[in-house]
Amino acid sequence: MAHLFLFTLLALSSSLPSIFAAHTASLHLRLTHVDSGQPFSSTGRIHRLVQRSHHRRKVLESRLANNSSASFNVLLKASMFDYFIEYSIGTPKLPVTGVLDTGSEVVWAKCQPCEQCDHKGISIYDPSKSSTFSKLPCSSPLYDYQPLKSVSVPKCEYVYVYGSAMINGFLATEMFSLGAESPTVNLTFGCNRLVKGTFSGASGVVDLGQGKLSLVSQLNLGRFSYCLTPFKSSSKSHLLLGDLASAKKASSGEVQSTPFLNATDQYYVAMRGISIGGNLLPIPASVFEYNKEESTGVLVDSGTGQTQLPQSAFDVIKKELQSLVGLRVKDMSKTVGLDLCFGLSSWPPPPLPDMVFHFDNGADMRMPQMNYMFADKRTRAYCLVMRPGQNGDKLTIIGNYQQQNMHIIYDVASRMLRFESTPCESF
Ligand SMILES: *[C@@H]1O[C@H](CO)[C@@H](O)[C@H](O)[C@H]1NC(C)=O
Ligand SMILES: *[C@@H]1O[C@H](CO)[C@@H](O)[C@H](O)[C@H]1NC(C)=O
Ligand SMILES: *[C@@H]1O[C@H](CO)[C@@H](O)[C@H](O)[C@H]1NC(C)=O
Ligand SMILES: *[C@@H]1O[C@H](CO)[C@@H](O)[C@H](O)[C@H]1NC(C)=O
Repeated sequence: MAHLFLFTLLALSSSLPSIFAAHTASLHLRLTHVDSGQPFSSTGRIHRLVQRSHHRRKVLESRLANNSSASFNVLLKASMFDYFIEYSIGTPKLPVTGVLDTGSEVVWAKCQPCEQCDHKGISIYDPSKSSTFSKLPCSSPLYDYQPLKSVSVPKCEYVYVYGSAMINGFLATEMFSLGAESPTVNLTFGCNRLVKGTFSGASGVVDLGQGKLSLVSQLNLGRFSYCLTPFKSSSKSHLLLGDLASAKKASSGEVQSTPFLNATDQYYVAMRGISIGGNLLPIPASVFEYNKEESTGVLVDSGTGQTQLPQSAFDVIKKELQSLVGLRVKDMSKTVGLDLCFGLSSWPPPPLPDMVFHFDNGADMRMPQMNYMFADKRTRAYCLVMRPGQNGDKLTIIGNYQQQNMHIIYDVASRMLRFESTPCESF
Protein backbone atom coordinates (compact mmCIF):
# COMPACT_ATOMS: atom_id res chain seq x y z
CA MET A 1 0.00 0.00 0.00
CA ALA A 2 1.31 3.45 -0.82
CA HIS A 3 1.40 5.84 2.10
CA LEU A 4 0.91 9.29 0.90
CA PHE A 5 1.00 12.79 2.21
CA LEU A 6 1.18 15.22 -0.62
CA PHE A 7 1.11 18.92 -0.41
CA THR A 8 1.99 21.69 -2.72
CA LEU A 9 4.59 24.26 -1.95
CA LEU A 10 3.93 27.78 -3.05
CA ALA A 11 7.41 28.74 -3.91
CA LEU A 12 10.34 26.92 -5.35
CA SER A 13 13.98 27.89 -5.40
CA SER A 14 14.48 30.57 -8.03
CA SER A 15 17.34 28.60 -9.54
CA LEU A 16 14.85 26.08 -10.95
CA PRO A 17 13.04 26.82 -14.17
CA SER A 18 9.59 28.19 -13.43
CA ILE A 19 7.90 25.57 -15.59
CA PHE A 20 8.15 23.03 -12.79
CA ALA A 21 5.13 22.53 -10.71
CA ALA A 22 6.36 22.59 -7.15
CA HIS A 23 5.37 19.57 -5.13
CA THR A 24 6.77 17.73 -2.24
CA ALA A 25 5.61 14.17 -2.32
CA SER A 26 6.12 11.67 0.43
CA LEU A 27 5.73 8.16 -0.83
CA HIS A 28 6.56 4.58 0.03
CA LEU A 29 7.07 2.53 -3.14
CA ARG A 30 8.19 -1.02 -3.84
CA LEU A 31 11.18 -1.97 -5.93
CA THR A 32 11.35 -5.30 -7.73
CA HIS A 33 14.69 -6.83 -8.56
CA VAL A 34 15.07 -7.35 -12.31
CA ASP A 35 15.74 -11.07 -11.83
CA SER A 36 12.96 -11.56 -9.34
CA GLY A 37 10.60 -14.42 -10.18
CA GLN A 38 12.94 -15.72 -12.89
CA PRO A 39 14.08 -19.33 -12.86
CA PHE A 40 17.76 -18.58 -12.36
CA SER A 41 19.94 -20.53 -9.98
CA SER A 42 21.83 -18.61 -7.39
CA THR A 43 24.96 -18.84 -9.56
CA GLY A 44 23.00 -17.75 -12.61
CA ARG A 45 21.75 -14.72 -10.73
CA ILE A 46 25.18 -13.66 -9.55
CA HIS A 47 26.55 -14.13 -13.05
CA ARG A 48 23.85 -11.83 -14.41
CA LEU A 49 24.59 -9.30 -11.68
CA VAL A 50 28.25 -9.33 -12.69
CA GLN A 51 27.35 -8.72 -16.34
CA ARG A 52 25.02 -5.86 -15.52
CA SER A 53 27.62 -4.29 -13.24
CA HIS A 54 30.16 -4.49 -16.01
CA HIS A 55 27.87 -2.70 -18.44
CA ARG A 56 26.80 -0.12 -15.90
CA ARG A 57 30.38 0.72 -14.98
CA LYS A 58 30.91 1.89 -18.55
CA VAL A 59 27.85 4.10 -18.29
CA LEU A 60 29.05 5.74 -15.08
CA GLU A 61 32.58 6.13 -16.34
CA SER A 62 31.56 7.74 -19.60
CA ARG A 63 29.45 10.16 -17.57
CA LEU A 64 32.36 11.04 -15.32
CA ALA A 65 34.64 11.54 -18.31
CA ASN A 66 31.89 13.58 -20.01
CA ASN A 67 32.49 11.27 -22.92
CA SER A 68 30.17 11.74 -25.84
CA SER A 69 32.14 9.70 -28.33
CA ALA A 70 30.54 6.42 -27.36
CA SER A 71 29.87 4.05 -30.21
CA PHE A 72 26.17 3.27 -30.52
CA ASN A 73 26.64 0.38 -32.86
CA VAL A 74 27.44 -2.06 -30.14
CA LEU A 75 24.17 -3.24 -28.71
CA LEU A 76 24.94 -4.82 -25.41
CA LYS A 77 22.67 -7.58 -24.24
CA ALA A 78 23.21 -7.03 -20.56
CA SER A 79 21.13 -4.32 -19.03
CA MET A 80 22.46 -1.72 -16.64
CA PHE A 81 19.77 -1.39 -14.00
CA ASP A 82 18.87 -3.64 -11.12
CA TYR A 83 15.47 -2.45 -9.87
CA PHE A 84 12.06 -2.02 -11.44
CA ILE A 85 9.54 0.52 -10.22
CA GLU A 86 5.82 0.67 -11.11
CA TYR A 87 4.05 3.90 -11.98
CA SER A 88 1.63 5.23 -14.53
CA ILE A 89 1.78 7.84 -17.26
CA GLY A 90 -0.86 9.98 -18.94
CA THR A 91 -4.63 10.39 -18.86
CA PRO A 92 -6.14 7.84 -18.80
CA LYS A 93 -3.39 6.31 -16.68
CA LEU A 94 -1.21 3.78 -18.44
CA PRO A 95 0.52 1.52 -15.89
CA VAL A 96 4.15 0.95 -16.82
CA THR A 97 7.28 -0.59 -15.38
CA GLY A 98 10.39 1.53 -15.40
CA VAL A 99 13.84 1.17 -13.94
CA LEU A 100 15.26 3.16 -11.07
CA ASP A 101 18.45 5.12 -11.66
CA THR A 102 20.38 7.30 -9.24
CA GLY A 103 23.14 8.03 -11.73
CA SER A 104 21.50 9.81 -14.66
CA GLU A 105 19.90 13.14 -15.55
CA VAL A 106 16.48 12.66 -17.07
CA VAL A 107 13.14 10.95 -16.47
CA TRP A 108 12.09 9.37 -19.74
CA ALA A 109 9.59 7.07 -21.39
CA LYS A 110 9.51 5.07 -24.59
CA CYS A 111 6.99 6.88 -26.75
CA GLN A 112 4.95 5.52 -29.65
CA PRO A 113 5.89 5.30 -32.44
CA CYS A 114 9.24 4.17 -31.11
CA GLU A 115 12.00 2.81 -33.31
CA GLN A 116 14.18 -0.03 -32.07
CA CYS A 117 12.37 0.01 -28.75
CA ASP A 118 12.23 -3.36 -27.20
CA HIS A 119 8.42 -3.81 -27.19
CA LYS A 120 8.27 -7.37 -25.97
CA GLY A 121 5.40 -7.76 -23.56
CA ILE A 122 5.58 -4.21 -22.25
CA SER A 123 3.28 -1.22 -22.33
CA ILE A 124 4.58 1.65 -24.37
CA TYR A 125 3.16 5.08 -23.75
CA ASP A 126 1.38 6.68 -26.69
CA PRO A 127 1.19 10.50 -26.40
CA SER A 128 -1.61 10.66 -28.98
CA LYS A 129 -3.84 8.71 -26.58
CA SER A 130 -3.32 10.95 -23.57
CA SER A 131 -5.25 14.17 -22.95
CA THR A 132 -2.58 15.63 -20.66
CA PHE A 133 0.42 15.29 -22.96
CA SER A 134 2.06 18.50 -24.01
CA LYS A 135 5.23 19.00 -26.02
CA LEU A 136 7.73 21.60 -24.78
CA PRO A 137 8.28 24.43 -27.23
CA CYS A 138 11.50 24.21 -29.23
CA SER A 139 12.54 27.47 -27.62
CA SER A 140 12.62 25.81 -24.18
CA PRO A 141 15.97 26.48 -22.49
CA LEU A 142 15.96 22.84 -21.41
CA TYR A 143 17.08 21.94 -24.91
CA ASP A 144 20.34 23.66 -23.98
CA TYR A 145 20.79 21.55 -20.86
CA GLN A 146 24.24 20.09 -21.48
CA PRO A 147 23.65 16.42 -20.52
CA LEU A 148 20.88 16.26 -23.14
CA LYS A 149 23.03 17.38 -26.03
CA SER A 150 26.25 15.52 -25.62
CA VAL A 151 26.25 14.86 -29.36
CA SER A 152 24.93 17.19 -32.04
CA VAL A 153 21.21 16.73 -32.56
CA PRO A 154 18.53 18.37 -34.69
CA LYS A 155 16.68 21.30 -33.15
CA CYS A 156 13.90 20.30 -30.73
CA GLU A 157 15.47 16.95 -29.99
CA TYR A 158 17.87 15.60 -27.42
CA VAL A 159 20.22 12.68 -27.23
CA TYR A 160 21.24 11.19 -23.94
CA VAL A 161 24.07 8.70 -23.77
CA TYR A 162 24.36 5.70 -21.44
CA GLY A 163 27.86 4.42 -22.20
CA SER A 164 27.24 2.50 -25.38
CA ALA A 165 23.45 2.84 -25.24
CA MET A 166 21.51 5.96 -26.09
CA ILE A 167 18.08 7.52 -26.23
CA ASN A 168 16.76 10.14 -28.62
CA GLY A 169 13.50 12.07 -28.55
CA PHE A 170 11.93 15.35 -27.52
CA LEU A 171 10.93 16.98 -24.25
CA ALA A 172 7.34 17.10 -23.06
CA THR A 173 5.20 17.40 -19.96
CA GLU A 174 2.79 14.76 -18.75
CA MET A 175 0.94 13.64 -15.64
CA PHE A 176 2.73 10.82 -13.80
CA SER A 177 1.42 8.82 -10.91
CA LEU A 178 3.96 7.09 -8.71
CA GLY A 179 2.33 4.36 -6.69
CA ALA A 180 -1.23 3.18 -7.14
CA GLU A 181 -2.95 5.52 -4.71
CA SER A 182 -0.97 8.66 -5.22
CA PRO A 183 -2.22 11.79 -6.96
CA THR A 184 -0.67 12.67 -10.27
CA VAL A 185 2.20 15.08 -10.73
CA ASN A 186 3.08 17.05 -13.82
CA LEU A 187 6.62 16.15 -14.89
CA THR A 188 8.91 17.22 -17.67
CA PHE A 189 10.22 14.08 -19.31
CA GLY A 190 12.00 12.77 -22.35
CA CYS A 191 9.63 11.22 -24.88
CA ASN A 192 11.85 8.80 -26.78
CA ARG A 193 11.38 7.86 -30.38
CA LEU A 194 14.63 5.94 -30.55
CA VAL A 195 16.09 3.72 -27.85
CA LYS A 196 19.35 1.87 -28.55
CA GLY A 197 20.55 -0.57 -25.96
CA THR A 198 18.90 -2.83 -23.44
CA PHE A 199 16.88 -1.28 -20.67
CA SER A 200 15.78 -4.51 -18.95
CA GLY A 201 12.58 -4.53 -20.98
CA ALA A 202 11.41 -1.42 -19.10
CA SER A 203 9.14 1.30 -20.46
CA GLY A 204 11.30 4.10 -19.14
CA VAL A 205 13.65 5.39 -16.48
CA VAL A 206 12.85 7.12 -13.19
CA ASP A 207 15.87 9.24 -12.44
CA LEU A 208 16.75 10.13 -8.87
CA GLY A 209 19.97 11.98 -9.69
CA GLN A 210 20.62 15.60 -8.84
CA GLY A 211 20.28 17.14 -12.30
CA LYS A 212 17.49 19.67 -12.89
CA LEU A 213 15.29 17.19 -14.77
CA SER A 214 15.48 14.44 -12.17
CA LEU A 215 12.48 13.46 -10.07
CA VAL A 216 14.33 14.79 -7.01
CA SER A 217 14.62 18.27 -8.51
CA GLN A 218 11.24 18.40 -10.19
CA LEU A 219 9.35 17.30 -7.07
CA ASN A 220 11.71 19.23 -4.82
CA LEU A 221 12.07 16.04 -2.79
CA GLY A 222 14.80 17.08 -0.37
CA ARG A 223 15.59 13.46 0.30
CA PHE A 224 14.85 9.88 -0.68
CA SER A 225 15.99 6.51 0.57
CA TYR A 226 15.92 2.83 -0.21
CA CYS A 227 16.21 -0.40 1.69
CA LEU A 228 17.32 -3.35 -0.46
CA THR A 229 16.30 -6.83 0.63
CA PRO A 230 19.01 -9.53 0.61
CA PHE A 231 20.26 -10.87 -2.71
CA LYS A 232 18.69 -14.27 -2.08
CA SER A 233 15.38 -12.87 -0.83
CA SER A 234 12.26 -12.87 -2.97
CA SER A 235 10.72 -9.93 -1.07
CA LYS A 236 10.45 -6.58 -2.73
CA SER A 237 12.73 -3.73 -1.74
CA HIS A 238 11.59 -0.29 -0.59
CA LEU A 239 11.92 3.20 -1.99
CA LEU A 240 10.90 6.18 0.11
CA LEU A 241 10.49 9.65 -1.33
CA GLY A 242 10.38 12.89 0.65
CA ASP A 243 9.75 13.17 4.37
CA LEU A 244 9.27 9.43 4.87
CA ALA A 245 12.93 8.92 3.98
CA SER A 246 14.08 9.33 7.57
CA ALA A 247 16.32 7.21 9.71
CA LYS A 248 14.47 4.53 11.71
CA LYS A 249 16.97 4.42 14.50
CA ALA A 250 17.09 7.25 16.95
CA SER A 251 20.57 6.93 18.36
CA SER A 252 23.08 8.89 16.35
CA GLY A 253 25.68 6.14 16.74
CA GLU A 254 23.53 3.79 14.69
CA VAL A 255 22.94 6.24 11.87
CA GLN A 256 26.11 7.15 10.02
CA SER A 257 26.43 10.30 7.92
CA THR A 258 28.99 11.47 5.40
CA PRO A 259 28.78 14.51 3.09
CA PHE A 260 28.30 14.26 -0.67
CA LEU A 261 31.07 15.94 -2.61
CA ASN A 262 30.10 19.30 -4.03
CA ALA A 263 32.19 19.12 -7.15
CA THR A 264 29.71 17.05 -9.11
CA ASP A 265 26.05 16.27 -9.77
CA GLN A 266 26.61 12.58 -9.10
CA TYR A 267 26.52 10.97 -5.66
CA TYR A 268 30.22 11.00 -4.80
CA VAL A 269 31.44 10.64 -1.23
CA ALA A 270 34.89 10.73 0.38
CA MET A 271 36.16 7.30 1.41
CA ARG A 272 39.24 7.02 3.62
CA GLY A 273 39.93 3.33 3.92
CA ILE A 274 38.69 -0.23 4.32
CA SER A 275 39.08 -2.61 7.21
CA ILE A 276 38.29 -6.27 7.72
CA GLY A 277 37.77 -7.68 11.20
CA GLY A 278 39.04 -4.48 12.78
CA ASN A 279 42.27 -4.38 10.76
CA LEU A 280 42.71 -1.27 8.69
CA LEU A 281 44.06 -2.53 5.37
CA PRO A 282 47.19 -0.91 3.91
CA ILE A 283 45.41 1.01 1.14
CA PRO A 284 46.51 4.62 0.72
CA ALA A 285 43.51 6.98 1.11
CA SER A 286 44.70 8.78 -2.03
CA VAL A 287 43.41 5.97 -4.29
CA PHE A 288 39.85 7.00 -3.38
CA GLU A 289 40.27 10.74 -3.95
CA TYR A 290 37.92 12.41 -6.38
CA ASN A 291 39.66 13.70 -9.50
CA LYS A 292 37.65 14.42 -12.60
CA GLU A 293 40.62 14.41 -14.99
CA GLU A 294 41.78 11.03 -13.77
CA SER A 295 38.25 9.63 -13.36
CA THR A 296 38.84 8.66 -9.77
CA GLY A 297 36.57 8.99 -6.77
CA VAL A 298 33.94 7.03 -4.87
CA LEU A 299 30.44 6.88 -6.27
CA VAL A 300 27.47 5.37 -4.42
CA ASP A 301 25.16 3.65 -6.86
CA SER A 302 21.85 1.83 -6.70
CA GLY A 303 22.07 0.27 -10.14
CA THR A 304 25.48 -1.41 -9.94
CA GLY A 305 25.54 -4.83 -8.28
CA GLN A 306 29.12 -5.49 -7.30
CA THR A 307 31.45 -2.89 -5.89
CA GLN A 308 34.32 -1.88 -8.11
CA LEU A 309 37.64 -0.84 -6.60
CA PRO A 310 40.92 0.38 -8.06
CA GLN A 311 43.15 -2.64 -8.80
CA SER A 312 45.63 -1.75 -6.04
CA ALA A 313 42.88 -1.66 -3.39
CA PHE A 314 41.33 -4.88 -4.72
CA ASP A 315 44.70 -6.65 -4.51
CA VAL A 316 45.07 -5.72 -0.83
CA ILE A 317 41.59 -7.08 -0.03
CA LYS A 318 42.31 -10.23 -2.01
CA LYS A 319 45.50 -10.88 -0.07
CA GLU A 320 43.73 -10.33 3.26
CA LEU A 321 40.86 -12.67 2.34
CA GLN A 322 43.23 -15.36 1.13
CA SER A 323 44.88 -15.39 4.52
CA LEU A 324 41.55 -15.29 6.41
CA VAL A 325 39.75 -17.96 4.36
CA GLY A 326 42.75 -20.28 4.11
CA LEU A 327 41.39 -22.13 1.06
CA ARG A 328 42.73 -22.41 -2.45
CA VAL A 329 41.74 -19.70 -4.93
CA LYS A 330 39.75 -21.26 -7.75
CA ASP A 331 39.17 -19.70 -11.15
CA MET A 332 35.38 -19.54 -11.50
CA SER A 333 35.34 -16.57 -13.88
CA LYS A 334 33.52 -18.59 -16.55
CA THR A 335 30.83 -20.04 -14.31
CA VAL A 336 30.24 -17.57 -11.51
CA GLY A 337 31.87 -14.61 -13.24
CA LEU A 338 33.41 -13.15 -10.10
CA ASP A 339 37.09 -12.29 -9.91
CA LEU A 340 38.06 -13.90 -6.63
CA CYS A 341 36.61 -17.30 -5.69
CA PHE A 342 37.60 -20.03 -3.28
CA GLY A 343 36.60 -23.64 -3.84
CA LEU A 344 34.83 -25.06 -0.78
CA SER A 345 35.48 -28.59 0.31
CA SER A 346 32.83 -28.48 3.03
CA TRP A 347 29.67 -26.60 3.85
CA PRO A 348 29.03 -24.09 5.38
CA PRO A 349 31.93 -21.86 4.32
CA PRO A 350 34.34 -20.51 6.94
CA PRO A 351 32.86 -17.41 8.58
CA LEU A 352 34.48 -14.07 7.87
CA PRO A 353 34.44 -10.93 10.01
CA ASP A 354 32.68 -7.71 9.00
CA MET A 355 34.21 -5.52 6.35
CA VAL A 356 33.98 -1.78 6.97
CA PHE A 357 34.18 1.08 4.47
CA HIS A 358 35.39 4.20 6.29
CA PHE A 359 34.04 7.51 5.04
CA ASP A 360 34.61 11.14 5.86
CA ASN A 361 33.00 12.47 9.00
CA GLY A 362 33.74 9.18 10.79
CA ALA A 363 30.95 7.32 9.00
CA ASP A 364 31.50 3.55 8.89
CA MET A 365 29.58 1.28 6.55
CA ARG A 366 29.73 -2.08 8.29
CA MET A 367 29.11 -5.09 6.07
CA PRO A 368 28.59 -8.58 7.39
CA GLN A 369 29.93 -11.46 5.31
CA MET A 370 26.67 -11.78 3.34
CA ASN A 371 27.20 -8.21 2.04
CA TYR A 372 30.49 -8.99 0.38
CA MET A 373 30.76 -12.76 -0.14
CA PHE A 374 28.68 -15.00 -2.38
CA ALA A 375 28.41 -18.59 -1.16
CA ASP A 376 26.76 -21.36 -3.14
CA LYS A 377 26.33 -24.86 -1.80
CA ARG A 378 25.70 -26.51 -5.17
CA THR A 379 28.80 -25.21 -6.98
CA ARG A 380 30.89 -24.95 -3.79
CA ALA A 381 31.78 -21.41 -4.74
CA TYR A 382 32.78 -18.87 -2.12
CA CYS A 383 33.50 -15.59 -3.85
CA LEU A 384 34.10 -11.91 -3.20
CA VAL A 385 31.40 -9.78 -4.84
CA MET A 386 33.80 -7.00 -5.80
CA ARG A 387 35.86 -6.43 -8.88
CA PRO A 388 39.04 -4.56 -9.74
CA GLY A 389 38.73 -1.76 -12.28
CA GLN A 390 40.23 -3.01 -15.52
CA ASN A 391 42.55 -1.30 -17.98
CA GLY A 392 43.65 1.22 -15.41
CA ASP A 393 40.14 2.15 -14.30
CA LYS A 394 40.45 3.78 -10.93
CA LEU A 395 36.84 4.70 -10.20
CA THR A 396 35.33 3.19 -7.05
CA ILE A 397 31.63 2.31 -7.29
CA ILE A 398 29.82 1.14 -4.17
CA GLY A 399 27.38 -1.41 -5.51
CA ASN A 400 24.02 -2.59 -4.24
CA TYR A 401 25.22 -6.07 -3.16
CA GLN A 402 27.14 -4.20 -0.49
CA GLN A 403 24.00 -2.24 0.47
CA GLN A 404 21.76 -5.21 1.35
CA ASN A 405 19.82 -4.77 4.57
CA MET A 406 20.85 -1.16 4.85
CA HIS A 407 18.58 1.84 4.83
CA ILE A 408 20.43 4.30 2.60
CA ILE A 409 19.22 7.88 2.79
CA TYR A 410 20.20 10.40 0.12
CA ASP A 411 19.66 13.62 2.02
CA VAL A 412 20.05 15.85 -1.00
CA ALA A 413 18.87 19.01 0.78
CA SER A 414 21.56 18.73 3.46
CA ARG A 415 23.99 17.11 1.02
CA MET A 416 24.55 14.10 3.26
CA LEU A 417 24.50 10.37 2.68
CA ARG A 418 23.10 8.63 5.77
CA PHE A 419 22.85 4.91 6.38
CA GLU A 420 21.76 2.47 9.05
CA SER A 421 21.74 -1.34 9.16
CA THR A 422 18.24 -2.70 9.16
CA PRO A 423 16.46 -5.89 8.04
CA CYS A 424 14.80 -4.68 4.82
CA GLU A 425 12.39 -7.63 4.54
CA SER A 426 10.55 -6.35 7.61
CA PHE A 427 11.13 -2.68 6.83
C1 LIG B 1 31.13 18.34 -21.14
O1 LIG B 1 31.58 18.67 -22.43
C2 LIG B 1 30.88 19.74 -23.05
C3 LIG B 1 31.43 19.93 -24.45
O2 LIG B 1 31.64 18.71 -25.08
C4 LIG B 1 31.04 21.00 -22.20
O3 LIG B 1 30.26 22.05 -22.78
C5 LIG B 1 30.54 20.73 -20.79
O4 LIG B 1 30.75 21.85 -19.96
C6 LIG B 1 31.23 19.54 -20.20
N1 LIG B 1 30.60 19.21 -18.91
C7 LIG B 1 31.28 19.00 -17.80
C8 LIG B 1 30.47 18.66 -16.59
O5 LIG B 1 32.49 19.02 -17.77
C1 LIG C 1 35.14 7.65 -24.74
O1 LIG C 1 34.33 6.66 -25.35
C2 LIG C 1 34.99 5.93 -26.38
C3 LIG C 1 33.98 4.99 -27.03
O2 LIG C 1 33.26 4.26 -26.09
C4 LIG C 1 36.18 5.19 -25.77
O3 LIG C 1 36.85 4.48 -26.77
C5 LIG C 1 37.10 6.19 -25.11
O4 LIG C 1 38.16 5.50 -24.46
C6 LIG C 1 36.35 7.04 -24.07
N1 LIG C 1 37.22 8.08 -23.53
C7 LIG C 1 37.33 8.30 -22.21
C8 LIG C 1 38.19 9.45 -21.83
O5 LIG C 1 36.73 7.63 -21.39
C1 LIG D 1 2.19 20.70 -17.01
O1 LIG D 1 3.06 21.84 -16.86
C2 LIG D 1 3.34 22.53 -18.07
C3 LIG D 1 4.35 23.60 -17.76
O2 LIG D 1 3.94 24.36 -16.70
C4 LIG D 1 2.04 23.08 -18.66
O3 LIG D 1 2.32 23.71 -19.89
C5 LIG D 1 1.08 21.92 -18.89
O4 LIG D 1 -0.15 22.40 -19.34
C6 LIG D 1 0.87 21.16 -17.59
N1 LIG D 1 0.07 19.97 -17.88
C7 LIG D 1 -1.06 19.72 -17.22
C8 LIG D 1 -1.80 18.52 -17.67
O5 LIG D 1 -1.43 20.39 -16.28
C1 LIG E 1 29.57 21.77 0.17
O1 LIG E 1 29.14 23.13 0.14
C2 LIG E 1 28.46 23.54 1.33
C3 LIG E 1 27.95 24.94 1.10
O2 LIG E 1 28.90 25.74 0.48
C4 LIG E 1 29.42 23.44 2.52
O3 LIG E 1 28.74 23.81 3.70
C5 LIG E 1 29.87 21.98 2.64
O4 LIG E 1 30.82 21.86 3.68
C6 LIG E 1 30.51 21.51 1.34
N1 LIG E 1 30.75 20.07 1.44
C7 LIG E 1 31.91 19.52 1.14
C8 LIG E 1 32.00 18.03 1.29
O5 LIG E 1 32.89 20.15 0.76
